[in-house]
Amino acid sequence: MPTLVIGASGLVGYEFYRQNKGKKDWFFTYRSVKVDNFLQLDASDAGQVEKLFSELKPDTVILPAAMAWVDKCEREPELARKNNVELLQNVINAMKRHGGRRIVFFSTDYLFDGKGGPYSEDAEPNPLNVYGRIKLECERMLEHSGLDYIILRTTGIFGWEKQGKNFLYRIFDTLGKGKPIEVPNDQYATPTYVKDIVEAAMALLGKGQKGTFNVVGPQSMNRVELAQKFAKGFGFDEKLIVGKPTSEFKSAAPRPMKAGFRIDKITKLGIRMRTVEGAVEDMKGRKEEDDRYE
Ligand SMILES: NC(=O)c1ccc[n+]([C@@H]2O[C@H](COP(=O)([O-])OP(=O)(O)OC[C@H]3O[C@@H](n4cnc5c(N)ncnc54)[C@H](OP(=O)(O)O)[C@@H]3O)[C@@H](O)[C@H]2O)c1
Repeated sequence: MPTLVIGASGLVGYEFYRQNKGKKDWFFTYRSVKVDNFLQLDASDAGQVEKLFSELKPDTVILPAAMAWVDKCEREPELARKNNVELLQNVINAMKRHGGRRIVFFSTDYLFDGKGGPYSEDAEPNPLNVYGRIKLECERMLEHSGLDYIILRTTGIFGWEKQGKNFLYRIFDTLGKGKPIEVPNDQYATPTYVKDIVEAAMALLGKGQKGTFNVVGPQSMNRVELAQKFAKGFGFDEKLIVGKPTSEFKSAAPRPMKAGFRIDKITKLGIRMRTVEGAVEDMKGRKEEDDRYE
């Protein structure tokens, strides 16, 4: 049964490739960052989606593809809709036409207003920004799609990454070069190791689970604490980390302050998520998977 990962050139998608490469009937796409052996697809274009799905007829679609840059979504809401809502609608339509059965989608703690986190799966959403509102709309579309769906709600994903753009790489590019870094000291989340979120998704698929699941690391912390843990783990100078309130960063999109998730639901299913310290140890053991310098 074919499985298609759309958006496999990104942080989460490429980890699906790492964990499943070589498997029969798995297909991976990129949009603009070319990867050999991946198929090219702009999923915001219904015609391209229809063509690919008529050829592959995927049973399972894993959809990390999104416009996930929160401030850009705020500044360009139409583009954000096209590359999130319309993209998902194109995929749902094509799955229904070509026998697709189940879909894995990635959502966010920006669904919430940050007054009461970390949140459980049944908390009431109240998004503060365009990205959060769009993700909520996507969740509702999936709930009404008639497809089997797994929504993974997550936050603050870090790990080795082909495009080297998650928060950890800012640490390498600043502290690693002896330069200071300014980070917000009042935004709390539950940072998540990319390898764990993909392992969790594979476990949920393997168990035939359906529905909405929080999939994040087990620790709640702010960005300063996260940067300090990275610095300690990779041997950088913690004194170069400068904490400032979010209000001083002048970001386009408002952020929830006390966000992140509780993971009792996946814990009961036997799924384990690493602490930041555990993740850093694991990353050091797979340094060759830092793809930036290919
Ligand atoms: N990273 C986080 O901390 C975080 C937190 C909460 C939720 N999420 C969600 O988790 C999912 C994965 O995030 P990520 O960090 O892996 O994102 P990412 O690194 O930005 O990767 C996005 C992927 O989507 C592809 N893509 C973008 N627009 C596309 C389009 N129109 N058609 C086809 N592919 C398209 C990109 O391809 P190219 O790069 O080749 O153009 C890339 O492969 C997203 O839904 C995101 O909203 C992420």
